[in-house]
Amino acid sequence: MLSYRHAFHAGNFADVLKHSVLTLILDYMTRKEKGFSYIDSHAGAGMYQLSDNYAQKTGEYKQGIAKLINNTDIPEELSGYIALIQQINNINSSNVKTGSAQLNLYPGSPGIAKQILRRQDNAHLFDLHPTDFNLLTELCQRWKKTFVKQSDGYQGVLALVPPPSRRAVVLIDPPYELKEDYSKAVKTIIKAYQKFATGTYILWYPVVKRALVNNMEQGFINSAVKNVLQVELCLSADTDEYGMTGTGLFIVNPPWQLANQLEVILPYLKDKLGNQQTSFCLQQLINE
Ligand SMILES: C[S@@+](CC[C@H](N)C(=O)[O-])C[C@H]1O[C@@H](n2cnc3c(N)ncnc32)[C@H](O)[C@@H]1O
Repeated sequence: MLSYRHAFHAGNFADVLKHSVLTLILDYMTRKEKGFSYIDSHAGAGMYQLSDNYAQKTGEYKQGIAKLINNTDIPEELSGYIALIQQINNINSSNVKTGSAQLNLYPGSPGIAKQILRRQDNAHLFDLHPTDFNLLTELCQRWKKTFVKQSDGYQGVLALVPPPSRRAVVLIDPPYELKEDYSKAVKTIIKAYQKFATGTYILWYPVVKRALVNNMEQGFINSAVKNVLQVELCLSADTDEYGMTGTGLFIVNPPWQLANQLEVILPYLKDKLGNQQTSFCLQQLINE
């Protein structure tokens, strides 16, 4: 089943949280001269036109990135991510001051990595969907040391770790169309960790049914994986009704200052993207 298209959701509140964390982690990796690998198991198309029928149909980005792009009070911790979106959209500071910044494009995780990775780094991007794979291939045409594959991303991750540099960021961002994605994603990280315990792993999840998130947490707790940070932003309270009420990330081996950065980012996102029901949580799920 390959019906999921990220184009419907690009730039929504879940992307804002996921991509601001991804930006902070990739920026951190570039502080050392030595190259690293970026492995994206479920990469999507890499770049999205916000004027197309998909984004316009749901309008999700209007409740996400569009609520931040003209803000003049962006905290330092979020400024790298916002600057990257502004750069892609040719937005300058006077556009922001006058509130006239226009969003045309929103980068997916590969689009973000493309802006941050250096010559000494490499990227391995997987997507099974034929249309998104073709769009991604096009985006990466002149991006050296980037390998795009139309194959299963879970297997791809396991085949690539540990990378020769022994430095890597792995993003696992499944569509969760299949219920098995919840356990498969956790199991893949546990297996990858057995081969490469010093990598940084980011796992995105939706809060649709709380029990499924609890199972993921338990999966990590019952494993040998250490140093897991968990962050969540929930627009509304958990419910048994259909639909995503919140979003979260598990981050294995996060950069040491990420938790402090999120302490600033989360209240800001709650204030700008949320409502009275909105809540966030940040916890060290498993200690080092
Ligand atoms: C949530 S989207 C990815 C979004 C992207 N990571 C981002 O942040 O911009 C999930 C993608 O996974 C792809 N996909 C689904 N199952 C897959 C699998 N087993 N291996 C690789 N890609 C898969 C879908 O085609 C879809 O494009």
